[in-house]
Amino acid sequence: MDDQYQRSIEYLRISITDRCNLRCRYCMPATGVPWLPPEDILTYEEILRLVTLCTGLGFRKFRVTGGEPLVRKGVLGFLTELAQTEGVEDLTLTTNGILLRPMAAKLKEVGVKRVNISLDTLDQDKFEEVTRGGRLGDVLAGIHASLEAGLNPVKLNMVVIRNFNDTELADFAKLAQEYPLHIRFIELMPIGASAASGEELVSVAEMKQRLDFLNLVPVKGPEGAGPAQHYTGDGLKGSIGFISALSQHFCAGCNRVRLTADGKLKPCLHSTQEFDLRELLRGGASDAQLREAITQVVWHKPSRHNMGLEGWQGRKRVMSQIGG
Ligand code: GTP
Ligand code: 5AD
Ligand code: SF4
Repeated sequence: MDDQYQRSIEYLRISITDRCNLRCRYCMPATGVPWLPPEDILTYEEILRLVTLCTGLGFRKFRVTGGEPLVRKGVLGFLTELAQTEGVEDLTLTTNGILLRPMAAKLKEVGVKRVNISLDTLDQDKFEEVTRGGRLGDVLAGIHASLEAGLNPVKLNMVVIRNFNDTELADFAKLAQEYPLHIRFIELMPIGASAASGEELVSVAEMKQRLDFLNLVPVKGPEGAGPAQHYTGDGLKGSIGFISALSQHFCAGCNRVRLTADGKLKPCLHSTQEFDLRELLRGGASDAQLREAITQVVWHKPSRHNMGLEGWQGRKRVMSQIGG
C-alpha cells in the first residue's frame, strides 16, 4: 500500500505490551511510567484481526515489540497464530533478551524468523546502571540461545551514548568477529527519557571513525526491513550496521507504521498523531471500516520526522510505550 509520498508501506510494528522488565535510563524515567490498565490493551484476537486486514492491504512484514514483548502472558500462542496468518512473510521480534534463553528455541519453533536484541554495554556494572538493575549474563545467554536455535540473523541493537558506552564500539565489533552476529550502532534519539540536548549523541560519522581499524565496506547486509546501513569489515563473521535517525534521517525510504499496545495506529515513530483503532474495534466496526481507517492513516503518514528541528517538543509517549 502506498502513502501520498509514493512510499510502499508493508511493515507493521506491533507493540503487545507497554510493560518492561528493565528500566533503561534513556527509554523510561527512573520512576517508571504508569502501566496501562489491562482492559486498555488490545487482546491477541483483536491484534490478529487487524493483522489479517493489514495483510489484505499488502503488509508483509510484522515485528512484535513492547515494552518487552516476552513478558506478556500467552505470547508464544499469539506468535504461533501470527506466524500462521496468511500473508505474514517476515515475523520478527525486538527484545531486551532477558527472557530469551529459555524461550529462543520455542520462538523458532512457532515461526519467528529472527530476533533483534537490545544490548548497550558488555560491562556488567554499566549494564546494571543503564538498565537500572538488569543482569548482563541473562542477555548474553539469550544471544547464545538465539544463535543455537537458528534464529537467523541475530542482530544486536546498541544505542551509542557519549561518555557512557562510546568506548565500547570495538568490543562489540569483536563480538561480530567471534560470532555471526550483526551489530547495529544506533544514534541516540531525543525521545522518551533521553537527553534532548544532543550532548550524548554520537553521530554515525564519528562511530565509523572509531571503527576504522575494521576497514568497513558497504554491503547489502543480512535480511531486514529496517533503516540500518550495513558494512562488512576485517575478520567479521557477522556485520556492522548503523542507524542514523538524526544525522541522516531515512524517512524517504520509510516502509512502516506502528500499532501501540492500546490499539493506536501511529503513522510515524515521532508523530503525535495516532488513530484509535481500538475504539473502532470495540465499537463494532466492520472489516471495511477498519480497512478504510488503516488506509487513511497510511496515506497521511508524514513525509519525515521533525526531531531536532524548531518546534520539536519531545513526545507524550516514552519509547517503551511505542516499541522502539
Ligand atoms: P530489521 O528488519 O532487522 O531491519 O529491523 P528494524 O531495524 O526495523 O527493527 P529494530 O526494532 O531492531 O529497530 C532498531 C532501531 O531502529 C530502533 O530501536 C530505533 O532506534 C530505530 N528505528 C526503527 N524504526 C524506526 C523508525 O521508523 N524511525 C526512526 N527514526 N528510527 C527507527
Ligand atoms: N534512541 C535510540 N534508540 C532507542 N531505543 C529506545 N530508546 C531509544 C532512543 N532514545 C531502542 C532500544 C531498542 C529499541 C527497542 O529501541 O535500544 O533497540
Ligand atoms: Fe519513518 Fe517517521 Fe521513522 Fe522517519 S521517523 S523513518 S518517517 S517512522
